[in-house]
Amino acid sequence: MPSNVNANRLQGQIAIVTGSSSGIGKAVALAMAAEGASIVVNYPGGTPDAANQVADEIKSAGRKAIVIQADVSNEDDVKKMFAKTIETYGTVDILVNNAGLQKDAAFVDMTLAQWKLVLDVNLTGQFLCAREAAREFLRRGIVPVKSKAAGKIICMSSVHEVIPWAGHCNYAASKGGVMLLMKSMAQELAPHKIRVNSIGPGAIKTPINRSAWETPEAEKELLKLIPYGRVGEPSDIGLVAVWLASDESDYVTGTTLFVDGGMTLYPGFATGG
Ligand code: BGC
Repeated sequence: MPSNVNANRLQGQIAIVTGSSSGIGKAVALAMAAEGASIVVNYPGGTPDAANQVADEIKSAGRKAIVIQADVSNEDDVKKMFAKTIETYGTVDILVNNAGLQKDAAFVDMTLAQWKLVLDVNLTGQFLCAREAAREFLRRGIVPVKSKAAGKIICMSSVHEVIPWAGHCNYAASKGGVMLLMKSMAQELAPHKIRVNSIGPGAIKTPINRSAWETPEAEKELLKLIPYGRVGEPSDIGLVAVWLASDESDYVTGTTLFVDGGMTLYPGFATGG
């Protein structure tokens, strides 16, 4: 658990973090728990071992966590995840729409299955989870001792909601979709005091992009794209997610916060153009 964050900014709040058995989702779950939130550790399927470990780490630090298996692209699974969360904790205050994947291929070789899987998980999954969360936020309304907002939705997007990405058309299309899904939801839900924002991570050291940073040669290439001169850590995202979920960001809605060491600054233009 991160030890530098213990101001209890999320005290008493319930957070569902999709895809939180590893990578960025895990870091967000740990950071939110460190701030007093009770966590739903969601994993998509397969063995629950990694998700259980995250939940155990949270519980051994004195916070609450439950593990729920759900494929975010499956409407039934998503409904059951929210029902189980509400049955266990009484409500939901924060949704972190984090679950996502890559199925990379050259455009001309990309199969319909690769296209659909990425769009289903990365975009439809965010829609399905956000819809259930918003329904619960509207039902419950604001609880002033917990937060000024009736609920917070954080969508995990990417620098690739604005940076085109050859060889990853399905992924970039899904994140471009997340951008306008997020903004449209934010516009529609703001009058109900529901805040919706995205985080746009750049290159963060997680399993999804291991080949881009695990050897010194690969890391050197990657750093050419990062003006700030280091590859991100999952905790870089966890800290920002806590802030976006807390009342410190109460006037922030409909925006993407890029956490990318400057990757969206077009570093190629630092010397050219
Ligand atoms: C991708 C990573 C990639 C990063 C920067 C992320 O959204 O999932 O694979 O390293 O963007 O390009």
